[in-house]
Amino acid sequence: MFPQKPAPKPSFVRLADHGVRLGPLPELMVSFVKQRFGRPLAAHSEAVAAISRNFTSDRNELSPAYLSSPPARAAYLAYYAITGAATVQTALELAGAWQKLPKDRLRVLDLGAGPLSASLGVAAVLPASTRLEVTAIDGVRTAMQDGGQVLATMRPDAELTIHAGNLREGRFLHSAAGGEYDLILFANVLNEWSVGSRKAMTPGALVEDVLSRHLAPGGVALIVEPATRHGSHVVIEAREHLMQTLGWPILAPCRGATQCPLANSHKDWCFTERSWTRPAHIVTYDAAMGHERATLKFSYLALQRAEPEAGDGKQFRVIGGPMRDAGLLRRYVCGPDGRRVVEVPDQQAPAGLVQAWRGDLVTLTGTPGETNRQGRREPVLQLTDLPPPRPRAPEPRGPERERPRPGFEANAPHRGAPPRPHGPRPSAPRPPHPRSSGPRASGAPPSRPKK
Ligand SMILES: C[S@@+](CC[C@H](N)C(=O)[O-])C[C@H]1O[C@@H](n2cnc3c(N)ncnc32)[C@H](O)[C@@H]1O
Repeated sequence: MFPQKPAPKPSFVRLADHGVRLGPLPELMVSFVKQRFGRPLAAHSEAVAAISRNFTSDRNELSPAYLSSPPARAAYLAYYAITGAATVQTALELAGAWQKLPKDRLRVLDLGAGPLSASLGVAAVLPASTRLEVTAIDGVRTAMQDGGQVLATMRPDAELTIHAGNLREGRFLHSAAGGEYDLILFANVLNEWSVGSRKAMTPGALVEDVLSRHLAPGGVALIVEPATRHGSHVVIEAREHLMQTLGWPILAPCRGATQCPLANSHKDWCFTERSWTRPAHIVTYDAAMGHERATLKFSYLALQRAEPEAGDGKQFRVIGGPMRDAGLLRRYVCGPDGRRVVEVPDQQAPAGLVQAWRGDLVTLTGTPGETNRQGRREPVLQLTDLPPPRPRAPEPRGPERERPRPGFEANAPHRGAPPRPHGPRPSAPRPPHPRSSGPRASGAPPSRPKK
């Protein structure tokens, strides 16, 4: 491996991987990159960092064909194709999608496929008994061909069709896509929708157009975007549009709210954080960039072409980190009527709520109401049936006090937002973001620098 700097030690006890099963993919990718680009992995460090900077700055600065340059392709394959595959796996897991997809033959449409990161994530998990057919569409043929070679090694039985062209050209898009699919993937592409052109249609309208024509009955669609304000709001815009137009049930992350509670917010956004075991070379690239990215962070939406089912009104999605204030644990959750803050005495807080990762589902019984803290009114869920208070643990001293808790402290968003200072999150609500007028209720990551 290529470290000048040693890889950082994990800063917290790792939980089980959240549905990430990459299998041989990282090794296959590494050996493909070495063989295809003829340089050691370390040689791509600077290009990985450059893409990371691009992803954290205004996406409109990217050239529409940035993946056509060999250095960018190599770096993308070595780093982002792996994190992308892992993200798609864990998002499908969260959505319960694997159980909903056909077992005998899976038809996948991968739009803005790049080097097939999303399809490779699916291929790595799919049982050998399931026939895999992938149709990939992207503006950069060579990127898809790279991914195709890795797919052919990992799943020689998979059928791959690639179409190079512009997704904005409806006639090309629909003729390339052709028929119907069981799984349609938009992975990290919608946030680039405005790059290099005036928008012909919104991302939501594009997704509606594709899904209405190409998603088979019972099929699943997944949108994944970076855990940035921009990425999240692209997903939210698509969600709002699809709720109005197609009205198909959302599998995750939403829990039935008619309108996304963050749809009109300029300072809050919604993202998910999952645990995974980083392949060694990803750890090394992260260390070279000075990032601590031990978790995957992303925004996503999964829906199914099906009849809506009645939801479980007691299940809430955790959409914020834990906050502690005046003896209370507070966490934001999203349920059938939108976002609520759960406030519970610290010593009576259910373990499931304390330990939940951002993006987990929790079952809560409580009374809806309104809270007014520091002049800020917001919907609250007061938990009922609380256990008796736990005895207070002795105050830890010295560095013990600072020790991060699992799941909340790996601070840098997955697709390259600037790393936060190391250390635990504040136990009280965070101070307002410099460009925000109030606290970020979703406990969102730092905003992109140039937005
Ligand atoms: C960030 S990459 C994502 C690649 C892959 N889906 C992943 O998750 O790693 C975005 C991809 O979208 C493609 N793309 C963006 N706008 C496009 C357009 N209008 N037509 C075709 N492809 C486009 C780019 O070429 C690039 O491969």
